Amino acid sequence: MEIRLQKFLSEAGVASRRKAELLMLQGKVEVNGKVVTQLGTKIDPKKDVVVVYGNRKKVEPKQNLVYIMLHKPEGYVTTVKDQFQRPTVLDLLKGVEERVYPVGRLDYDTSGLLLLTNDGELTYRLTHPKHHIEKTYEAKLFGTPSDMDILQFRRGVLIDGKRTQPAKLEILEKGQKYSVVRIVIQEGRNRQVRKMCQAIKHPVAQLKRIGTGTLYLKNLEKGKYRYLTEKEIQYLKKL
Ligand code: URA
Repeated sequence: MEIRLQKFLSEAGVASRRKAELLMLQGKVEVNGKVVTQLGTKIDPKKDVVVVYGNRKKVEPKQNLVYIMLHKPEGYVTTVKDQFQRPTVLDLLKGVEERVYPVGRLDYDTSGLLLLTNDGELTYRLTHPKHHIEKTYEAKLFGTPSDMDILQFRRGVLIDGKRTQPAKLEILEKGQKYSVVRIVIQEGRNRQVRKMCQAIKHPVAQLKRIGTGTLYLKNLEKGKYRYLTEKEIQYLKKL
């Protein structure tokens, strides 16, 4: 969609509309390498390269802030680009035009709830190590944890030489070879759930994150995403 150059500049935060017009009249705005002084000029923010004052960096169009919940399948990396060319979670966001980034990460072989946004401020706050937002997982474990194991979770488990914050472990199903458990942790250390379960000698066979704080996957299908509601966004901002 084409918009007036001065509107584009003010929405991108370069200057107020009037100041942007002034910059144009002063010959300080270039579109695709050419100075544009005509105030009515329209540009296509997706295609045209706008540079102000001979800055070398182009002016990035303003982006709507978007907040997305994805049900990540196993077999996707939570990075924007993978050195081994494996599929990334962004490949699942067909139809999302904004450039969003994952909030924290899920391992390649973990499925479940992943938030993505272009709100850098919120990402920064939610992923800050000081921030202890509860994350809930369902895991299939080898064997069935004992009461002592559950107690150990509650006291914190030593992984990589450092004790975790208190965590919850609840047994949902017991089988011959495996059990299904629900685990709630407060931090987001690297491969934390896998390492905690390894530490109590009940390694993870399958891992899925079902909740972050009070946000849950519910019936969101694997591989699908949805936009968060205004209420959910406000909840995350208040945390
Ligand atoms: N803990 C893990 O071990 N893996 C994840 O992906 C998330 C939490």
